Amino acid sequence: MAKQTTLNALIDAYYNTLDELAQQYATHEGAVSVAFQSLLADTARRHHWTLIPQLSAQGIRPDGTLKDPMGLVRGHWEAKDTDDNLDAEIGKKIAKGYPLGNIIFEDTRIAVLIQNKTEVMRIDLRDRQQLARLLDAFFGYVEPQIDSFEKAVDEFKERVPEIAKHLKEKIVDAHATNKKFKAAYASFIAMCRTALNPGIQQDAVDDMLVQHLLTERLIREIFDNPEFTRRNVIAAEIEKVIDALTSTSFDRHVFLKSLDRFYVAIENAARTITEWSDKQHFLNTVYERFFQGYSVKLADTMGIVYTPQPIVDFMCASVAEVLEKEFGKSLGDKDVNILDPCTGTGNFIVNLIRRIPKKDLKRVYTEQLFANEIMLLPYYIAALNIEHAYFEQTGEYEAFEGLCFVDTLDLAEPRQNGFSFMTEKNTERVERQKRTPITVIIGNPPYNAHQLNENENNRNRVYKEIDSRIRATYASASRATLKAALGDAYVKFFRFAVDRLGERDGIICFISNNSFTEQNAFDGMRKHFHSDFTRFYHLDLHGNVRHNPNHSGTAYNVFGIQLGVGITVAVKRRKQKSHRLMYAEVPEALRRYDKLRRLVDLGSIGKVEWTGISPDANNSWLNIGDTSEFQRGLEIASKEAKAGILPRPQTLFELFGPGVNSSRDEVVYDFHKEPLCARVEKLCEAYSVEVDRFKRRKRRDTTSIDDFVDYSKIKWSSTLKLHLKRGTYASFDANQVALSLYRPFAQRFLYHDEVLNDRPGLFHRFFPARVSDENRVIALTNPGSEKPFMALIGQHVIDYHLVGGGAGAMCFPFYVYNADGTNRRENITDWALDQFRTHYKDKKIGKWDIFHYVYGLLHHPGYREKFADNLKRELPRIPFAPDFRAFARAGEKLAKLHLDYETLEPWKLAWIETPGVPLSYRVEKMKLSKDKTALVVNRSLTLGDIPPETSEYRLGNRSALEWVIDQYQVNEDKRSGIKSDPNREDDEQYIVRLVGQIVRVSLETVKIVKGLPAAFA
Ligand SMILES: C[S@@+](CC[C@H](N)C(=O)[O-])C[C@H]1O[C@@H](n2cnc3c(N)ncnc32)[C@H](O)[C@@H]1O
Repeated sequence: MAKQTTLNALIDAYYNTLDELAQQYATHEGAVSVAFQSLLADTARRHHWTLIPQLSAQGIRPDGTLKDPMGLVRGHWEAKDTDDNLDAEIGKKIAKGYPLGNIIFEDTRIAVLIQNKTEVMRIDLRDRQQLARLLDAFFGYVEPQIDSFEKAVDEFKERVPEIAKHLKEKIVDAHATNKKFKAAYASFIAMCRTALNPGIQQDAVDDMLVQHLLTERLIREIFDNPEFTRRNVIAAEIEKVIDALTSTSFDRHVFLKSLDRFYVAIENAARTITEWSDKQHFLNTVYERFFQGYSVKLADTMGIVYTPQPIVDFMCASVAEVLEKEFGKSLGDKDVNILDPCTGTGNFIVNLIRRIPKKDLKRVYTEQLFANEIMLLPYYIAALNIEHAYFEQTGEYEAFEGLCFVDTLDLAEPRQNGFSFMTEKNTERVERQKRTPITVIIGNPPYNAHQLNENENNRNRVYKEIDSRIRATYASASRATLKAALGDAYVKFFRFAVDRLGERDGIICFISNNSFTEQNAFDGMRKHFHSDFTRFYHLDLHGNVRHNPNHSGTAYNVFGIQLGVGITVAVKRRKQKSHRLMYAEVPEALRRYDKLRRLVDLGSIGKVEWTGISPDANNSWLNIGDTSEFQRGLEIASKEAKAGILPRPQTLFELFGPGVNSSRDEVVYDFHKEPLCARVEKLCEAYSVEVDRFKRRKRRDTTSIDDFVDYSKIKWSSTLKLHLKRGTYASFDANQVALSLYRPFAQRFLYHDEVLNDRPGLFHRFFPARVSDENRVIALTNPGSEKPFMALIGQHVIDYHLVGGGAGAMCFPFYVYNADGTNRRENITDWALDQFRTHYKDKKIGKWDIFHYVYGLLHHPGYREKFADNLKRELPRIPFAPDFRAFARAGEKLAKLHLDYETLEPWKLAWIETPGVPLSYRVEKMKLSKDKTALVVNRSLTLGDIPPETSEYRLGNRSALEWVIDQYQVNEDKRSGIKSDPNREDDEQYIVRLVGQIVRVSLETVKIVKGLPAAFA
């Protein structure tokens, strides 16, 4: 009764306000809608909902959005003007895509209530009874159950972030106010820090609680496992913390009630599933979608992606086959002890359980099978999945004691006896695993090095033992200059697995990133693999988008990711004296599902046609190329010569170095000086504030630098964090603005600075005054790059990503200076001069001639083709071509062309103006026609008759003209909102002129290159 009276009072207030407004003649929508808004907002409060006016979502902005305590949207309201035709207005809004789940449209006279896309009520708002009914129907509405599982999980994924956010807020609140919770939490986080990760932060532990809360019901209901939270050794511990949380802060059942519709749909779907494999798919889908929705960042660092069944099948079958063929054993044998070190949802173990002879299964299940997982949700699902699989085979339910909630890589760390891994039970499990002589390691380790970013604060954690093992083995046996790729998580898992086998015979079977088969940084790892294993099989499934830019997107990758992947089966059998490497590939051009189909057809490694690999002296496995002829050429440069260790370096150049890698291009580069200076000044200030804040922090504050810095104001990088730690300030100095060659034929201003550029390179030695009219630098594709080889000359600072991501530029200057600009000297060695003069018996050869010879030679298509594989691994070697002068002359001409491109006479292109549109030279985004003969500059102008040979002059994956089109466009950096505009107010025709100039550069380059003497056949 009380409730009704209050509603009556609210309705009274509504009518009173309308009357008052009418007396003021205020009858337009803007004025009268306020009355209805107050009525709705007040009524909402009684239902613990909130009205948010004008909330934009997905391109629409209803007048009111109503949310419940979970933060879920429960209804909308839209007001219209009394003079409008209400039905016509409703039609317009529907056409715009207004949500029709529960929405009131009204114009103070009539209100229409639409629920679940159907008009359910149309009332006269002046009738009090009808208005009360309308409000009851609106606030009493519960969305109908979702009719399909797919829809439910999709919608669940979409809503998870908002639900999780709300839960987190409750938890944060409890940290401040709930004593009981604080105590339970303190002991729990302490446990996590000892057992999981010493650096684990409150945020990550809060995440665990949220994951637990959101999935516990699914587990209880769907898997008909009401005892789960009590029985599972970790869940039970978390329940204690949650109990403390819910004791005063909130009622979890009420809170989760609004999730009923998802849960019920998912539960209904689960009930209809009878097939075992469907259940698996079901679990995997919920798991993957949950994480995609919940935290992409977490999904990235942990490699949350489940392994498609055909891959799991193929790998498990291969292990069974190798056990039998090489060792005469089966999966059920007593000394076959198996570990999945990163089990995710437990798919490998489930698959193995189905293959183990039933007579052996109980023993293997209780004594010989092990799996580790570090994330809570997959760990829960793995337990359910594996225990269910065992039940299916045996008819008995038995907890899987082999499953550990632990960081596998941490297990390699030396530990004192009595160390606790979260709970007593979990510790027992871990200890038993550690005591077991593991002989098979199988799984899908995370691989994420390329997704890591200093600015996201989700770098990989440091593991002392494993990392030092990698340094002592894979890194120390490597000759590569850049070894950062060895930091990838999958490398750590390989290192862990090899060490875990130790001296025993055994098998490692991983699906992983397969950069190790071909990239430079992994030469030491390849060397070790070759000697560690007697048989090493690698089935390349390809899928590296950078290798094949035509395969844009991820349709060709078995995981739908961008990295190349492959299956490794590595066998160690000490009795066998020979060591063999075997390689095979699933055609790169097959699409994802066709690749998986191919695995199904093959069944296991036994049916694969393998090719033996003989590594070369550099431990290259694939694409070995013509090494001996390549080696006869002169070394262009070497680390030793650069370090000045050698008294008389035997290389062509003495000093060399990578281009500038700023790690914050959008801030420190610009087409125009002024905005650049303004931005950098601001950055200097923001950064200096951080330095001060860091200096002033309390002594006791042990927050890591990654957690300390403010990510909202500055784009951080590893060296900037280092400078901050050292207390180095940055102060703006306009003299540090340098013109730079940012991309081919696309110059920008750069704020060149030791602190604000992540890797400023050696350019202070190449262009000490930041401008030079005398020095020249040849930039080459760095070995290890994923793009085709190129060479480009410059007279300014050069950017490391000169030809884009996935490639680096190594720079070779003609002159070098002391850092203060004095002591200019030639960088081509006297040794090289002697070599050339002696070889060609020509005393007149000078160092500039050699410089130009190198530039000409590196353009020779025969050279590039013949040594393509070598150039992927090493810096070029410079052979003596038969005709020195021809190459030197061509090189000089090319250099002039590439340096002076801005002063060339533009190539005459067809000038096509659009009738009726005033002529403009302004460029937003130019577009090349499909046949590449015409370029749409803007709406008013098209340039035609572009000769087809223009696109033959390529640098990396683009032609010179395509680089210009790519660079000279207006755009906005999504993260920072910083705009970049290449148009020049003082020279509005610059870009259009540049297009003609680059066409000329391209055509003349192609002509010169074609005219080079035949060589390198
Ligand atoms: C690519 S997934 C494996 C997927 C799994 N095979 C499946 O099909 O569900 C990698 C899993 O390893 C876990 N993981 C990552 N680092 C780990 C570590 N250091 N120790 C244990 N598990 C880890 C992740 O949480 C993730 O569930």
